[in-house]
Amino acid sequence: MFRDRWCGELRESDAGSKIKLAGWVFRRRDHGGLIFVDLRDRTGLTQVVFSPDVAAEAHELAHSIRSEFVISVSGELRKRPAGTENNNIPTGMVELYAETLTVLNESEVLPFPMEEAAEATESLRLKYRYLDLRRPELQNNLVVRHKTTKLVRDYLDSLGFLEIETPMLTKSTPEGARDYLVPSRLNPGYFYALPQSPQLFKQILMVSGLERYFQIVKCFRDEDLRADRQPEFTQIDMEMSFVSIEDVIGIVEGMIGKVFSDVLGVQVQTPFKKLSYAESMERFGNDKPDLRFGLELKDMADLVGQSSFKVFLDALASGGRVKAINGKGMAGLSRKEIDLLTAEAQSFGAKGLAWIKVKNGFESPITKFFSEDILKQMAERLEAVEGDLMMFVADKGKVVNDVLSRMRLELGKRLNLVKDSFEFAWITDFPLLEWDEEEGRFAAMHHPFTSPADDSIAQMLAGSAADKQVLASLKAKAYDIVLNGFEIGGGSIRIHRKDLQAKMLELLGISEEEAKTKFGFLLDALDFGAPPHGGIALGLDRLIMLMVGAQSIRDVIAFPKTQKASCQMSGAPSSVAAKQLRELHIKTDIPA
Ligand code: AMO
Ligand code: AMP
Repeated sequence: MFRDRWCGELRESDAGSKIKLAGWVFRRRDHGGLIFVDLRDRTGLTQVVFSPDVAAEAHELAHSIRSEFVISVSGELRKRPAGTENNNIPTGMVELYAETLTVLNESEVLPFPMEEAAEATESLRLKYRYLDLRRPELQNNLVVRHKTTKLVRDYLDSLGFLEIETPMLTKSTPEGARDYLVPSRLNPGYFYALPQSPQLFKQILMVSGLERYFQIVKCFRDEDLRADRQPEFTQIDMEMSFVSIEDVIGIVEGMIGKVFSDVLGVQVQTPFKKLSYAESMERFGNDKPDLRFGLELKDMADLVGQSSFKVFLDALASGGRVKAINGKGMAGLSRKEIDLLTAEAQSFGAKGLAWIKVKNGFESPITKFFSEDILKQMAERLEAVEGDLMMFVADKGKVVNDVLSRMRLELGKRLNLVKDSFEFAWITDFPLLEWDEEEGRFAAMHHPFTSPADDSIAQMLAGSAADKQVLASLKAKAYDIVLNGFEIGGGSIRIHRKDLQAKMLELLGISEEEAKTKFGFLLDALDFGAPPHGGIALGLDRLIMLMVGAQSIRDVIAFPKTQKASCQMSGAPSSVAAKQLRELHIKTDIPA
């Protein structure tokens, strides 16, 4: 037997007992007579003391052990002498006086010291991910992840959901990203797509009468990566029959409430806030608002329209918008600092940043274009008082919202306004369709199987792909769940009627032919008594990232990929043998 207790669980009440521990040597200090070793396992540290008076042989052997050696020790647990307790660790009142020591394995000197692992470059840490994962912080992230998925399974099981697996080698699912393709050896020239989500299969399970499905499932999307995006990530994926939006929302809120209380000890307030998409765009400039602070965007068109400032007037005249934000207490900024802010706004896509200080009245190169009354009304709308800095962006609506939403997040951080809390919200009433500039046609805002809102159905059925105005105004039965500025989930009530689905595809410019080859199996299934159904998928990685306060999604995934979608540890992706390619009937134009 290697051990009978865990390193992290020993307390003063255990003093006097004989115990055996196993783990890694975290730190070793040689104090001449005594050798101290901080022994680490998954649960924490215990100080082990090797004394020549207690066990000469073990003490002698202890001279040879080094950091990250794997050892097993047994002996008597004693209360530490007064004055030598360590209040920084839970086991700091006791220490183990070793009677036996077994070196189970040795270790090379680490590429980075364990104690400073957090400071090592991420690329080095990812290369030696097995060492990085020895850090308590990362281990805790995985513990939280485990506890969460376990609770989710139990919660959904209690509500009658069945966990059902769907294929990984499948056909493309239109979620808007590029597919990862897998060549088929048995069908030369044909490819499977790895699922971007189980969307089509979970809907088919509803047609099959499974009623309530869930799956904690890997999804694959070949898209540009960011701190909150991985090429393979995990969804808590759900689908249910005979439900309304409110049913789905209620089930998810119950699940989140349970997870936060049982895993983090945090009571979240339900029901969560609800904002329509339009309201969120108006007030925060995006559809994933961080509600931990204010600094809301304000529309200024009616006021600046009464000025003579050409930049603003031109923007309005060409159908654009002017919105503003209040930099609380920032009137003290120097010209140089304001230039930096302007450059920042420009890096977000703005043409410039107009500003007015509220300082002994109003101060700015552009005040001359505004009457005193308008200046006052602008300050009032922004709730700007002495010492504040009003900032304006004029441009196409999309650019204005985009720039100001990002400025808002920057300012929130810079001004220390972001509360330490979990602020959830549902974003509802999404548009059904979204104009795709590049493609010159409408695309589904969520995915092509999303149901239009009841009061959009008639218009939709009567509409044609040419009625841009009408199509842009259609609303969907779609919803996203947002936490602290991140989209942690999204879903919808689906189309279950074949005529609506066909119309949707027509409006998206997807021909019958194309629809048949791409997802004909779902369309066929809708012919055979598909029940009304809907669902949602939560991004598990993002959820855990926010629960543990990690800066990157990579910190909550055991073996994540880099920005370039590679694995530093295993070396994936890599070239393959010519023979393998021949078997797959694949030729590349990359020189060997
Ligand atoms: P959606 O595409 O919104 O919906 O995905 C659901 C959630 O998955 C997370 N997510 C990601 N997390 C990490 N890396 C990524 N690359 C990534 N992409 C998405 C997000 C997102 O909210 N089939 C639909 C769901 C449905 O309609 O039921 C779907 O996949 O948190
Ligand atoms: P200009 O007339 O170009 O000298 O700009 C006067 C002020 O307006 C400067 O502070 C610019 O940064 C700002 N500005 C220019 N274009 C815009 C814009 N589209 N939106 C907001 N401010 C702008």
